[in-house]
Amino acid sequence: MFFASGLVPLLLSSFAAAAILKRDPICIRIEATISRASNVYYPGDPLYEKGVSHWAGSSSQVSKCVVEPGTAADVGHVLTILGKTRTPFAVKGGGHASNPNFSSTTGVHISMYRFSQVVYNPATQTAQIGAGLIWDEVYAALDPYGVNVLGGRVSGVGVAGLILGGGYSWKTNQYGMTVDTVTAYELVKPNGNVVTVTKASDPNLFWALKGGFNNFGIVTKFTLKTFPQTKVWGGMVLVGPDHIPDVTAATAAFASVTDPKASLITAYNYGFPEISLLLVYDGPTPPPGIFDDFLAIPSLMSDIGTKSFTQLVAGFPTDSTKGNRGVFNSISLLEYTPSLLNVILNETNYWGAKLTPKSGAFISYSVEPFLPSIYSHNTDASAWPPYRAKPFQPINIFFSWTNAAFDNEYHEAMRTTTKVIYDAAKAEGQDLTNTLVYPNYAIFDTPLSTIYGSSLPKLRTIKCLVDPQNVMGLAGGWKF
Ligand SMILES: Cc1cc2nc3c(=O)[nH]c(=O)nc-3n(C[C@H](O)[C@H](O)[C@H](O)COP(=O)(O)OP(=O)(O)OC[C@H]3O[C@@H](n4cnc5c(N)ncnc54)[C@H](O)[C@@H]3O)c2cc1C
Ligand SMILES: *[C@@H]1O[C@H](CO)[C@@H](O)[C@H](O)[C@H]1NC(C)=O
Ligand SMILES: *[C@@H]1O[C@H](CO)[C@@H](O)[C@H](O)[C@H]1NC(C)=O
Repeated sequence: MFFASGLVPLLLSSFAAAAILKRDPICIRIEATISRASNVYYPGDPLYEKGVSHWAGSSSQVSKCVVEPGTAADVGHVLTILGKTRTPFAVKGGGHASNPNFSSTTGVHISMYRFSQVVYNPATQTAQIGAGLIWDEVYAALDPYGVNVLGGRVSGVGVAGLILGGGYSWKTNQYGMTVDTVTAYELVKPNGNVVTVTKASDPNLFWALKGGFNNFGIVTKFTLKTFPQTKVWGGMVLVGPDHIPDVTAATAAFASVTDPKASLITAYNYGFPEISLLLVYDGPTPPPGIFDDFLAIPSLMSDIGTKSFTQLVAGFPTDSTKGNRGVFNSISLLEYTPSLLNVILNETNYWGAKLTPKSGAFISYSVEPFLPSIYSHNTDASAWPPYRAKPFQPINIFFSWTNAAFDNEYHEAMRTTTKVIYDAAKAEGQDLTNTLVYPNYAIFDTPLSTIYGSSLPKLRTIKCLVDPQNVMGLAGGWKF
């Protein structure tokens, strides 16, 4: 007992020494090269833990170090070192990817937090937003100007991955996908050069970045079109088991609503709450009729009201499964018929009952209906969606669990249930050819052709030109 007070500091200092000795030489080289605007963190440092963490725990790995670049030039220095030494690395924006290795690595982990500015330009009606932000921060920063951009629909989602993969937002019925609203990218190319990519400066690369994630370098800033933002109406409604048929009927009937300011997500969940409804009208009050069927259903909880857009999104929290293992998958459907919604409900209950005893589970099937016109707003083409002639709409299937030993089982169940819904839609007569899968929802082993379709050959050609050494191939994700 009496010597403990002397021993503890001794042990601590020898651990610290060991940690310093074990510091990876590539990380040390990066540390020596970057400016004072940037930093490198090692295991044990709270900023290291923050840097490698993800919304889904299964998306995190132990990296050699975390690099937080503070300038685009430093991102270039880091990429140059990683490329020359062929060091595996990861780039993380908001860390919401659920696929393993997409924004995590056992090599060098780059976290973009320091790119955190929102700059509104009233003259051009655009906003420049940093690649390390989450959407809640962007909405709050634009709120005072009475404008907004197209971004994530619930709380906590990262800016970078959502934009680089497409982006379904509460304004998509009005203005298209987030990629349709990008006017410029500040990009650090795989050779370390910092460039601004616009339609005029480099039409091919501009097209490729609209869906192409991290294949062409690291984006530090996005310039997005802004739109006027009034107060909005909406919120979350939770419904119990007795009224599921009413929700299904109202969700199917919503297909006849043509007001582009109206949007919703109906989530069928296993366990409490059986149904979560996210209802949104992009204006202070919806015209009568649009949401009446939903509002007539007795609810367990409802916070529907008129509020700011920032409050609306903050009222859709996603923390309950944060840190758990998780996987998403998706297909793109042409319509949500009552019979298809019943297949989805049955899948929810079937897999919920089957998987919950294994490793706990939160099982959720989110039905995301959109107007048939949503792919018509873009005058430019984009890498995703590659095909805009069909009005396909995503379903978002989410499984969450706790024990890594069951990863394969949950992944396999996810593939099986996705196929059941796909087959049911086809059996109903939906022509699902060219209804491509949304890359931000697709499970990691989805074939690239199922996501990118006819865009693939052009993406591969541009990839070879922009990144002949395949530096970005050292990072995970959808790879061309
Ligand atoms: C709770 C939740 C809600 C969601 N809601 C929506 C929604 O409303 N609409 C929608 O469309 N999608 C939604 N998504 C899906 C979301 O779009 C994707 O998960 C998206 O990839 C998240 O971006 P991120 O920056 O947080 O992810 P990250 O995990 O940080 O990154 C995702 C991918 O993008 C790459 N990347 C990240 N930053 C950069 C960069 N600066 N330069 C180059 N590549 C980069 C990464 O390397 C990785 O491959 C949601 C996801 C979750 C978990
Ligand atoms: C992720 O990378 C690890 C190596 O770090 C590898 O063992 C694993 O198979 C990868 N997972 C997937 C789903 O690709
Ligand atoms: C419910 O789903 C399971 C699994 O896909 C299937 O075996 C079963 O036949 C379905 N039941 C009904 C009533 O459709």
